[in-house]
Order: sequence, then C-alpha cells, then structure tokens
Amino acid sequence: MPQPGRIVEIADMTAKDRYFRVELEKPLGHHPGQFVMVSVMGVGEAPISISNGPGKDNTLEMVVRRIGRLTQVLHDLKVGDTLGIRGPYGSGFDLGNFYGSDVLFVAGGLGLVPLRSLITPVVAEADRFGKITLISGCRNPSEELYRDQLDEWTDAGIEVIRLVDGTENMPWKFGVGLVTEPIPKLRLDPEKTVAALCGPPVMYKFVITALGARNVSYDHIYVDLERRMKCGVGKCGHCQINKIYCCQDGPVFRFSDLALLPEALL
Ligand SMILES: Cc1cc2nc3c(=O)[nH]c(=O)nc-3n(C[C@H](O)[C@H](O)[C@H](O)COP(=O)(O)OP(=O)(O)OC[C@H]3O[C@@H](n4cnc5c(N)ncnc54)[C@H](O)[C@@H]3O)c2cc1C
Ligand code: FES
Repeated sequence: MPQPGRIVEIADMTAKDRYFRVELEKPLGHHPGQFVMVSVMGVGEAPISISNGPGKDNTLEMVVRRIGRLTQVLHDLKVGDTLGIRGPYGSGFDLGNFYGSDVLFVAGGLGLVPLRSLITPVVAEADRFGKITLISGCRNPSEELYRDQLDEWTDAGIEVIRLVDGTENMPWKFGVGLVTEPIPKLRLDPEKTVAALCGPPVMYKFVITALGARNVSYDHIYVDLERRMKCGVGKCGHCQINKIYCCQDGPVFRFSDLALLPEALL
C-alpha cells in the first residue's frame, strides 16, 4: 500500500526538471540508489529515484523530468498536494563497498539525481574515504542540475569536474566535453578506486572502457541501470534482462556481475 506524501517544497531546476521535497508519514528507511513508485490518484504510477541520502527523518527528495502524462501531472502539483509513495525498492548501493576507498562518481544528466543519494552520505563521512571525485556532465549549461549542491561539494573539498557537451552560447565557467574525457588524466590509483556511475545508457560503455584503460577492475565499478519499469516488484517482466530483474536485482549492479550480459548496457 502506498503511504501518503505531502509536498512541502517545489523548485525548478531546469525548464523540464522540477525538484520536490515530500514529507511522509514514516521514514523511508532507504539505501542510496533505491527508488520509489510515485502515484497520483486516477492518473498512474512511475518509478522515481530517491535523491536524498539515507536518514531517519520523514523526507523524500526527488527530481521529476517532464516527459509524458504522469510527469506532467506531477509538474502541475502545488505545495500542500498529496502523492502516493510505495517503496523503497531495488538493491541500491552498499556503502560498505566504498569505505576506505577512493571514490569516483560519474553522473550524466538526470543520473546525478540518484547518485546524490550516495554522494551525500559519502561527503558527510568524508574521513572514512580516500579521495572523492565527481565528474558531472549534461548537454548544455541550462540543463545542469543541483548547481548549488555542486558548489557546496566543491567547497567541502570534493574534486567536482563540471562539464557540458556544448555551451550553446550560454555563459559557462566550467569545462566542455564528455564525462569520459577527464578520466585518462585523473589522479587515480586503480587498486584503491571504486566507481559509481549513473547516466543515460550510452554513457556506460564509454565510461567503463575509459576506467578499464586505467586498470580499474570491473569488481570496483557499480552501475545504476534505470530500465523501463512498471510494477517495481518483479511481477510484470518489463525490466527483465535475461534472468535479471532490474527492479529487484538492481537498479544498482556491480559491473563484473553484468559483464557477460551485453544487453544490459544497450
Ligand atoms: C528506477 C527508475 C528510476 C527513475 N528515476 C527517475 C527520476 O528520478 N526522475 C525522473 O524524472 N524520471 C525517472 N525515471 C523515469 C520515469 O519513471 C519516467 O520518465 C516516467 O515513468 C514517465 O512517465 P509519464 O507518464 O510521464 O510518461 P509516458 O506518458 O508514459 O511516456 C512519455 C514518453 O516517455 C517515454 N518513457 C516513458 N518511461 C520512460 C523511461 N523509463 N525511460 C525512457 N523513456 C520513457 C515513453 O516511451 C514516451 O515516449 C526513472 C525510471 C526508473 C526505471
Ligand atoms: S518492473 Fe515489473 S518486473 Fe521489474
């Protein structure tokens, strides 16, 4: 059964991406990288990533990209309106796999939204990790998400590399290029580095190839695969890749567990 969630804050992040802070009746008790099924009565339900780090409060933060019917209705909601929230679902990232390591995050576009749920606890306990680096890319300056948060992480001593594919004549004081481009030049110890990637499907194989060229083992690469999903709980088969159900076995996978499954990165 979904629990009711009351919207307490809304902010526009880009022309098509809207941030929502939702107050729940009880804490989600989530792991980084998990998702919820968000429903609007009489309209439908969609999987949406949890963007806040794990915690004991009753908050859900999410960013919704307007793409179709349900997401349009979500964009039309106001502070005080109520949503249905099921979950959390999926495997998520296990922080235990990152403790003591250098951590490299690679986010493409909307991928920064779920990755933020992992970056937040890593930054909060930065002394339990080695060097922390985030490469965050998007198409153009107007599409960059969580700008203030990226500034805060930079101020906290995280190496944040901000890129756009092109400036399209908009003001931009950071880099231009794909998220793969900084990887060959990064100060990186392959034995000590664990990477977490989230972005559009096309991004993964290029980033994984670039990390492989730096001798980062597939055991140390985690990918967040957001396949089409319907039920979110392993019943409908919408998200199936061979024997894997992304909604239950994922959306977060250790890449070495997927390496023999080329369809996973299509
Ligand atoms: C695990 C997971 C986490 C997600 N997290 C987020 C998130 O944090 N924020 C967010 O905005 N979206 C997220 N999505 C995608 C989101 O669920 C879809 O955008 C949403 O279901 C679209 O619903 P709609 O009714 O608005 O679109 P529809 O009216 O159903 O579809 C509109 C168009 O979008 C296409 N489409 C629908 N669903 C998807 C999809 N999953 N991927 C690509 N194209 C699609 C359709 O083919 C159609 O062309 C996530 C998806 C998954 C599986
Ligand atoms: S979404 Fe239904 S089985 Fe995964």
